[in-house]
Amino acid sequence: MAEDQADHTIYPVPGRLLDPAQCPEPYISSMEQYKEMYRQSLEQPDEFFGKLATELLSWFQPFQTVQHGGLRHGDVAWFVEGQLNASYNCVDRHALATPDKVAIIYEADEPNHSAKITYGELLRQVCQLAGALRAHDIRKGDIVAIYMPMIPEVVIALLACARIGALHSVVFAGFSAEALRDRVHDACSRLVLTADQGRRGGKTIDTKKIELPLRASSTIFSESMNSEDPLFLLYTSGSTGKPKGVMHTTAGYLLGAMATVKYVFDYHPGDIFACMADVGWITGHTYIVYGPLGLGATTVLFESIPTYPNPSRYWEMIAKHKVTQFYTAPTAIRALRRLGDEWVEGHDLSSLRVLGTVGEPINPEAWHWYNNTIGKNRCAIVDTYWQTETGSHIITPLPGAIPTKAGSATVPFFGVELAILDPVNGKEMAGNDVTGVLAVKRPWPSIARTIYGDHRRFFETYLKPYPGYYFTGDGATRDKDGYIWIRGRVDDVINVSGHRLSTAEIESALIMNHAVAEAAVIGASDEVTGQCIYAFVCLKPGSSGGHYGHDLTKELVMQVRKLIGPFAAPKRIYLVEDLPKTRSGKLMRRILRKIVAGETDSLGDISTLADPSVVETLIAKVDGV
Ligand code: WTA
Repeated sequence: MAEDQADHTIYPVPGRLLDPAQCPEPYISSMEQYKEMYRQSLEQPDEFFGKLATELLSWFQPFQTVQHGGLRHGDVAWFVEGQLNASYNCVDRHALATPDKVAIIYEADEPNHSAKITYGELLRQVCQLAGALRAHDIRKGDIVAIYMPMIPEVVIALLACARIGALHSVVFAGFSAEALRDRVHDACSRLVLTADQGRRGGKTIDTKKIELPLRASSTIFSESMNSEDPLFLLYTSGSTGKPKGVMHTTAGYLLGAMATVKYVFDYHPGDIFACMADVGWITGHTYIVYGPLGLGATTVLFESIPTYPNPSRYWEMIAKHKVTQFYTAPTAIRALRRLGDEWVEGHDLSSLRVLGTVGEPINPEAWHWYNNTIGKNRCAIVDTYWQTETGSHIITPLPGAIPTKAGSATVPFFGVELAILDPVNGKEMAGNDVTGVLAVKRPWPSIARTIYGDHRRFFETYLKPYPGYYFTGDGATRDKDGYIWIRGRVDDVINVSGHRLSTAEIESALIMNHAVAEAAVIGASDEVTGQCIYAFVCLKPGSSGGHYGHDLTKELVMQVRKLIGPFAAPKRIYLVEDLPKTRSGKLMRRILRKIVAGETDSLGDISTLADPSVVETLIAKVDGV
């Protein structure tokens, strides 16, 4: 949302959250307290994070050095010399202290099939799978690909890998077999863990038929890992076609996950934490698995979709399990809002304290609906900004402390020193009321350490564009009150329903078709999904559009679904004669974006086009369909 259109009304912290008779006392309960802690986190980072890491994590061997290295050289390290295990921190210590406490509430696709798994049971199951992995000769440092639906086994799989020091590389079950193959090869994964099938919205989804024979359960001790030993890879899209395996390490990542569940969701013992993301994305890793389980919380694993068997599903689930923190994406909020308030009415949502959103900017209408209709104006709304690469939230309100504005992610989390940079000269834009690209000035514990097998690409993507800074790839405004408004990607990444897709990846999938000479993919705005994909395709000479007609566009959609996954399917494909290119052959996607948005009076400079007449032809084509 552009800053000039922004509504600057400030919504104070709901009084109920600060009333000890109604809610547990928030860890941070005023703006002053936030400011003081934030100041400490920047001025005395060793004390601040050293204390946090000692409080929140259990160590086999304590660390000596809190922080080492930096962004300039890309050699960030935290809690050096420390030894720990993420699985031990998420399972064993809670199984010892509170074995009967529910760790996972599995809300199955069919609403009456939910199940609960205690910490004691979780430990047994994690040990069993860890034993089976060892029996298959999986050792510390090996990579295990995981391609599973949203069933408890996926959580068990992550923790079993972490237990024996193997890195997991989860591939979202919505990706096609081809996309899975690329990611398995890139990581040289030694094993793929999968399940026969999953269910979603009443439909059966086949994944694959490999399963490991499980031996009788016995205790499998967790490996002692160094703080900086890798915990997992997670593939994400960048501006080039090849997906990158973002690598996170053990201690810093786990600390970021736990600290944000504690402070951003104001998690208190006894709370029921429900993050609706898929474990196949970073949000699921951090806010279904590592963050809540690290704190010994009860986490909800939701297998279904918000509209199955009807659009009350979320609200029924919240009432049934007495959910206290609920976390979803703006796209789901927009879709449910359109279906009408009658689906919300009559469900007891009084257990809720914190409502979170993630994945894309939230438009004010959706924010207000979330706040009024779901939160009844008595919950905190936390619009959390972060990325696969940041590991955990980096800009977000805190429930008891930060007044909100509808559509702003508000203020930086502890240890995150933000900068808005001038995209042209790379200089920092000081003060308030500035717009530029969003960067971070120093490393925080859960920042990704590298791209698997390609540290150079890591460096060139994130650290080299603005030396000394981590470059997010997003544009942002710091408004007159110092609040941050995320304005979306400044690179060729499209965000469809909070899923990150690269234009180049979709273009390569289209070009694989024998009839296609060239393709250009852009993001267009969409009321429900935020952005949707439009593709412009030029056919090879002799492959006339008339000849293939609609069947070819259908075939191309199928091809993208097969090569990447259904969520990457273009909403519209235009078969065109020519694409807007500069004389040097560079594709000008900006012009296509403007044409699709109907902003043809502000196309900007088109004099650099090799053939400016292509613009008129494209406008006619888009208007004519
Ligand atoms: C976008 C998801 C605005 C942003 C956790 C970022 C957001 C990309 C927000 C990362 C938000 C995420 N407001 N935009 N609250 N949260 N984004 O890696 O463009 O799948 O760069 O991580 O999502 O997507 P990723």
